[in-house]
Amino acid sequence: MSQDTSSPLIDFVPATAEDYEEVMSISGGIYNGTDHLPFRYHAWLKDPHRRMFLAKCKGKVVGFESFILVDHGTTAVLESLRVAPWMRGQGVAGLIQKFCLATLHSDHPEVKRVRLTRGENPPAAMLTKFEVIKSKAVLPLFLPADQLKTALKLLECRVTNFSRSKELSVLGEEEILRFFEESKTREELLPGGFLVQSWLPLTTHISNLHLLLNRRIVWMYSHPGESSGSVSSSEVSTSCFGTPTYLEGFLSLGTPPYPVPFGEGIHQLDIDMFGNDPSCVKVHVLQQLKVGVQALPAGTGIICVLYADESLRAEIEQLCEGLTPFQIVREQMILEMEI
Ligand SMILES: CC(C)(COP(=O)(O)OP(=O)(O)OC[C@H]1O[C@@H](n2cnc3c(N)ncnc32)[C@H](O)[C@@H]1OP(=O)(O)O)[C@@H](O)C(=O)NCCC(=O)NCCS
Repeated sequence: MSQDTSSPLIDFVPATAEDYEEVMSISGGIYNGTDHLPFRYHAWLKDPHRRMFLAKCKGKVVGFESFILVDHGTTAVLESLRVAPWMRGQGVAGLIQKFCLATLHSDHPEVKRVRLTRGENPPAAMLTKFEVIKSKAVLPLFLPADQLKTALKLLECRVTNFSRSKELSVLGEEEILRFFEESKTREELLPGGFLVQSWLPLTTHISNLHLLLNRRIVWMYSHPGESSGSVSSSEVSTSCFGTPTYLEGFLSLGTPPYPVPFGEGIHQLDIDMFGNDPSCVKVHVLQQLKVGVQALPAGTGIICVLYADESLRAEIEQLCEGLTPFQIVREQMILEMEI
């Protein structure tokens, strides 16, 4: 690949299992210790839909990028870009992106767009190429092992009986499939047919279902129902009895907790929530957290990252008041570019 003479000379090679340590050596401190690549690297190498690349300078690893083909092979999602700290600010990330695009053009001509997720404030250079198509509030919490029990008790107290009375089901495979097929529910809860799961931005194209099922996610769903009159939302309509009624249900997806580099034994639990009914959000956080904590190895703490519609931020902050916030980002953005 030809290069601008002012940029460092970079070679690109496929990443292998043997490169793991070197990739980790350029990844220190990324995302404040919540980098998922250390945990996913080897599994990703076995995924036939994913490709992983190293950028090398004078034989040393100086960058990493991967993409996974989704939406029936028509979209490439870029994930886990990083450049070695001593090489940053020299345009290396731009070279990596160009290499990925060239690879997509040559090896995967069926790919029509590239998509990625980012925290708030993407660099201006990115916004000249990518379009922001969606964003969501991010609320991360740190729950050390010795505070988990107390934290759960506190959340239990704050979830009202009204919220508990709403029907919440854990969806099995058949129901998840139906959920994907039922276009009304899908369109209401996932406007534009987008679904971000643990920073992976997908459409609700049926071909993505298998990928999601493989991730052993806990799917929880609350059916649409009547809600208290104390909340306001543009999505509320008034029933013939004058009671506000939410037209859509509420969906949450919880990852099985996975280890992150933040500290010995610390695991991360991502809870992606869809819908904007404030009477559902608290009970979903509580129930997902309970399931997540049950799956934790004994004596480990958790970084719990909540992703929800921006209109629910205040509701979630109220629920989590007094718990330790964790600093990563406040917002999750989905960016897309036609290629
Ligand atoms: C973000 C990071 C990869 C930028 O690397 P860099 O080589 O210092 O970036 P530069 O500012 O020199 O390069 C700018 C180019 O990279 C692109 N770029 C920067 N960050 C990008 C990102 N997250 N995704 C896609 N492209 C990005 C810019 O659009 C620009 O492209 P151009 O040269 O074609 O205009 C680097 O700081 C890093 O590794 N940070 C820690 C990990 C991280 O935050 N990764 C972001 C993943 S969301």
